Amino acid sequence: MNICVVALGKIGLPLAVQFAAKGHRVVGADVSERVVELVNDGAVPFPGEADLDVRLKEVVAAGLLSATTDTTAAVAGAEAVVVVVPLFVDADGVPDFGWMDDATRAIAAGLKPGTLVSYETTLPVGTTRGRWAPMLAEGSGLTAGTDFHLVFSPERVLTGRVFADLRRYPKLVGGLDEASGEHGVRFYEAVLDFDERPDLTRPNGVWDLGSAEASELAKLAETTYRDVNIGLANQFARFADTVGVDVMKVIEACNTQPYSHIHSPGIAVGGHCIPVYPRMYLWNDPTATVVRSAREANVAMPEYAVDLLAAAYGDLTGVGVLVLGAAYRGGVKETAFSGVFPTVQALHRRGAKPYVSDPMYTNEELVAHGLPGYHGEPVSAAVVQADHAEYRTLGSADLPGVTVLVDGRRVTEPSRWPNVRRVVIGG
Ligand SMILES: NC(=O)c1ccc[n+]([C@@H]2O[C@H](COP(=O)([O-])OP(=O)(O)OC[C@H]3O[C@@H](n4cnc5c(N)ncnc54)[C@H](O)[C@@H]3O)[C@@H](O)[C@H]2O)c1
Repeated sequence: MNICVVALGKIGLPLAVQFAAKGHRVVGADVSERVVELVNDGAVPFPGEADLDVRLKEVVAAGLLSATTDTTAAVAGAEAVVVVVPLFVDADGVPDFGWMDDATRAIAAGLKPGTLVSYETTLPVGTTRGRWAPMLAEGSGLTAGTDFHLVFSPERVLTGRVFADLRRYPKLVGGLDEASGEHGVRFYEAVLDFDERPDLTRPNGVWDLGSAEASELAKLAETTYRDVNIGLANQFARFADTVGVDVMKVIEACNTQPYSHIHSPGIAVGGHCIPVYPRMYLWNDPTATVVRSAREANVAMPEYAVDLLAAAYGDLTGVGVLVLGAAYRGGVKETAFSGVFPTVQALHRRGAKPYVSDPMYTNEELVAHGLPGYHGEPVSAAVVQADHAEYRTLGSADLPGVTVLVDGRRVTEPSRWPNVRRVVIGG
């Protein structure tokens, strides 16, 4: 089969490699000349994706994968087109379709009868039918459902482990109509392999959810569930603090029941997905009060961590405070929607002198992100923002002036902080 993958980013490139490794001829289309050149040389444009370097070299050398900036030509030669161009939302959840609209116009210009188009980028419910179908029809003169097939199939993998996740999770497909859904299922069955999952209600594989809307909602629902769950854990943690209870003991006990899957509380929920998709859902469904409250609960956590610090330390005016971790979670070099930004702002509001350090970032990189780097200035308090593995072995010997530590991620080892007031969120 000839396949075109539109956008060779952290998701699109591993997907293109996966399809090519199954023996299909794949052309990747990307607007970045740099990305296209690197891919054609068999070189990965970004770090951190397991096995991608070796697998990319293999499929490029075998002539199964090439890249181009000409999306329209690549689409014209393909029987299936997979789109993973990013979509952005602003603070109110209003989507900016700019990049995706550009890509869709370029796809429409090359679209041939009989082609399958599958959007994998997370979208508000209704976008495939209400936006992409008419846009593709207008640009191609073809009718969705009759002349070409259109599905939404959300990407559910995590960067860093894309190949493993593609095997692990069912591939959800929802068509504009029945025939589109069937084509979508056949396509993904030809390009993916699945692990056995006896824990699932149906065999692991490609699951047709019956409509584009159902598969759009499935992705928003699974990510929103996680945000709401963390919001609830954070509320339990704050209440536990007021009654002197260790919330993790409570959560561990609750989770022995089959219906409880309570997440751990934490200083903030960051990254490209969990803080973003609930806002996309709220844009779809503004009546979703539970979702809105959870988002508010999670957004409030950095301020709460600084409140805990002030309660333990006293007046923070002029006090040097080191924020440990700029990344949104441990082990990743990514600051998208990281709790570091509101934590630094909350410290500023209290009159403190915040600094930030992170084992994955140089001071220059931190400054480039608008964060105050740390060069060993005197600090009297610290706040753990990211759960980097390095912080498990960090102790008061490493930060001699620190008298109060707020651990927002429950990652530090209490015995390593003698004579330091160590405060964790949720007791
Ligand atoms: N990153 C993740 O962890 C993750 C996980 C699950 C799902 N997703 C979904 O995948 C989407 C893409 O994420 P990503 O991390 O791969 O993005 P990315 O930022 O790594 O890459 C985006 C690529 O799109 C290219 N691009 C931009 N406009 C284009 C156009 N008009 N035509 C062709 N290429 C274009 C860019 O040059 C870039 O190479 C996200 O919006 C999200 O919905 C991402």
